[in-house]
Amino acid sequence: MAELKYISGFGNECASEDPRCPGSLPKGQNNPQICPYNLYAEQLSGSAFTCPRNTNKRSWLYRILPSVSHKPFASIDQGHINHNWDEVGPDPNQGLHTLCGAGDIRSNNGLAVHIFLCNSSMENRCFYNSDGDFLIVPQKGKLLIYTEFGKMFLQPNEICVIQRGMRFSVDVFEETRGYILEVYGVHFELPDLGPIGANGLANPRDFLIPVAWYEDRQVPGGFTVINKYQGKLFASKQDVSPFNVVAWHGNYTPYKYNLENFMVINAVAFDHADPSIFTVLTAKSLRPGVAIADFVIFPPRWGVADKTFRPPYYHRNCMSEFMGLIKGHYEAKQGGFLPGGGSLHSAMTPHGPDADCFEKASKAKLEPERIADGTMAFMFESSLSLAVTKWGLKTCGCLDEDYYKCWEPLQAHFTPTSRSPTEPK
Ligand SMILES: [Fe+2]
Repeated sequence: MAELKYISGFGNECASEDPRCPGSLPKGQNNPQICPYNLYAEQLSGSAFTCPRNTNKRSWLYRILPSVSHKPFASIDQGHINHNWDEVGPDPNQGLHTLCGAGDIRSNNGLAVHIFLCNSSMENRCFYNSDGDFLIVPQKGKLLIYTEFGKMFLQPNEICVIQRGMRFSVDVFEETRGYILEVYGVHFELPDLGPIGANGLANPRDFLIPVAWYEDRQVPGGFTVINKYQGKLFASKQDVSPFNVVAWHGNYTPYKYNLENFMVINAVAFDHADPSIFTVLTAKSLRPGVAIADFVIFPPRWGVADKTFRPPYYHRNCMSEFMGLIKGHYEAKQGGFLPGGGSLHSAMTPHGPDADCFEKASKAKLEPERIADGTMAFMFESSLSLAVTKWGLKTCGCLDEDYYKCWEPLQAHFTPTSRSPTEPK
């Protein structure tokens, strides 16, 4: 495949023209009486018109036909896409679930975690989501994603974000699967860095935006546009490919990011920094510092902390933590957590290293060592209390009923008469 081109940066005002039509972006205005090359002008709004400037998102698309050129939408089978968080009763136990969420689509507040599996490309079909933004984490197989803004090529260890309303279609090359974090009503941002300063974690320049690409293609059998609207699927037919945007400009675009570019920051003397240092992107709630969802990764790095229990500590958290594994072995659950799997630690449910990990790490000689080489685990962390769907809990048949047993062998090592610590036996 020819190398695709991208624009580098996060949240910038960008402009792009398909090189086959130089000058296709109107000069000095968005809505000329007649656009260059006789294109149609169409605005895609990603925020309320009146949002403050730093959160105002929109792009102008110059296309062969406007998106409105389609037949009416009709309801279709929605498979296992769901937003009914009352399907099964709440369950605070630790477990391996594969689909969960919280909040309300209609009031634009909440999130959903989806698993995707596919073995064939979307031919003359595209999808757009009226409900929220998709953060897509491929775990197996490569994706060639066609969007109205251009093409993106994605492989495991890269992620992409396709924001609300953007039409896209996916080509796959083998059996392919991954995770999707959907957030309603907000967009992902880079986290604030505080005393870290101007650089570090996910750097803006490493986010890549596709460049304009169009096809002027009639589709005799009809091109199907699938829409997720209030959690239900609808389909509509049109005569032409929707990937007919010759030029665009704006700050509301899809983008991709290679997780290898994450600049890891960590404790270099003793103890742990909080895992928020691993945040790639955050979808903020209205409460300062509280996220609807954070996307957090645990990349390969050095562990150097002296006099410290180095794996993640035991904790209980007011947040819900959905973890996934793209590749390798997650350090706190050797063997118990496979690539493509997921775990959910619900709000205030205790969790931490399994017994084996505790025993080993308590005795380990503390030399600088590589952690997580060949591994990429991630977390979707939310301030909302997540509900698991019936599919995640029952239908998929993948729940690990014995998950809690990894903590059963934990022994008390309490020595009431001696303060000096001894290694666990
Ligand atoms: Fe946790």
